[in-house]
Amino acid sequence: MKFTLRPMRLEDIPHVGSLEQKLFPVDAWPLELFFDEFAQTETRQYLVVEVDGAVVGYCGVMVVGATADIQTIGVLPGFEGQGIGTAMLTEMLSEARRRGARETLLEVREDNPRARRLYERFGFEHIHTRRGYYRDGVSACVMRLIFEESKEAAHEPR
Ligand SMILES: CC(C)(COP(=O)(O)OP(=O)(O)OC[C@H]1O[C@@H](n2cnc3c(N)ncnc32)[C@H](O)[C@@H]1OP(=O)(O)O)[C@@H](O)C(=O)NCCC(=O)NCCS
Repeated sequence: MKFTLRPMRLEDIPHVGSLEQKLFPVDAWPLELFFDEFAQTETRQYLVVEVDGAVVGYCGVMVVGATADIQTIGVLPGFEGQGIGTAMLTEMLSEARRRGARETLLEVREDNPRARRLYERFGFEHIHTRRGYYRDGVSACVMRLIFEESKEAAHEPR
């Protein structure tokens, strides 16, 4: 299956909002939040993935100072397990680096092993648990990836 990763456009948002309802039934972002996030181009980058001209995945990263946050990532069921999540995360981490981040944080549901595995494969480590963080009472794992060059820089003499 061939897929294309490209920046999100304003006109993608209504469709992305409907994917969001399917992917995150418990705490889907309202459409206004996507518009609001999308507009903050100085600190955000949102991407979509297309297959045969249809958007099947989306993601966004925020970078403020030295810290990036994965804001959201999702792939439509039926298109999972084919490398789309990996491609989106790879691109968001590259963007975070380009924007000067030294680390990236994210939150993931404790009961979402698939997403956690994806993040662990990239080297994210579970650093904290937010008890009952989600609306249905499930806890969030806060995960962090420190970029290698930052670890090296931290050991360099000043
Ligand atoms: C988590 C999520 C984004 C992962 O996206 P994905 O496109 O399925 O991710 P990938 O395909 O890159 O990787 C998933 C698995 O497919 C495997 N895979 C990757 N490329 C592959 C390929 N070309 N062929 C076969 N398998 C492949 C990976 O090894 C991985 O295996 P694992 O789960 O055993 O570790 C997706 O499952 C999703 O949207 N879930 C619902 C929403 C959600 O939970 N989002 C995260 C919120 S924090």
